[in-house]
Amino acid sequence: MKKILLAGLIALTSLALAQSGASVYQQCQGCHQPTGAGIPGVFPPLAGHVPEILAAKGGREYIIHVLLYGLTGEISVKGAKYNGAMPAYGQLKDEDIAAVLNHISTQWGNKFPAGQKEFTAAEVKAQRAKPLTAAQVNAARKALGLQ
Ligand code: HEC
Repeated sequence: MKKILLAGLIALTSLALAQSGASVYQQCQGCHQPTGAGIPGVFPPLAGHVPEILAAKGGREYIIHVLLYGLTGEISVKGAKYNGAMPAYGQLKDEDIAAVLNHISTQWGNKFPAGQKEFTAAEVKAQRAKPLTAAQVNAARKALGLQ
């Protein structure tokens, strides 16, 4: 009985340490909005848009780079132009970045493209090996061919 209680306690503690994607998203919603719709011309939408990023060749690495290193300079999303600054979130733990990426990939009707799995902390960690500036992240975005 004591062992079961202890195991339960340990499980609860590790849950408390790892943030859920929804709780990490609270740091994003001031700009991208709780609905993921963004604000036209100011903050790009994530609803209906994250799956397009994931489906592009190199899109998974790119979206991890946006979280780790930020993004600045002009981009276009579904024909609308944005020219703002997305702050870098490299200070978050790998598992918290994976959690928020999984959140925005599966909320508001968003889905992973067929055959793609959830982001893992290891996948995020691997991208820390090659640091980029926010402007370099923008330059790499051009290769994705997003409209
Ligand atoms: C201060 C406002 C702000 C906050 C907070 C913010 N973002 Fe952003 N985000 C932006 C802006 C502005 C852009 C577009 C940057 C540009 O125009 O170059 C962007 C771009 C993005 C993109 C890339 C879209 C594309 O088409 O390439 C993703 C993905 C993203 N944000 C996710 C998030 C997540 C997840 C969080 C929270 C961890 C977050 N953002 C927090 C403002 C913000």
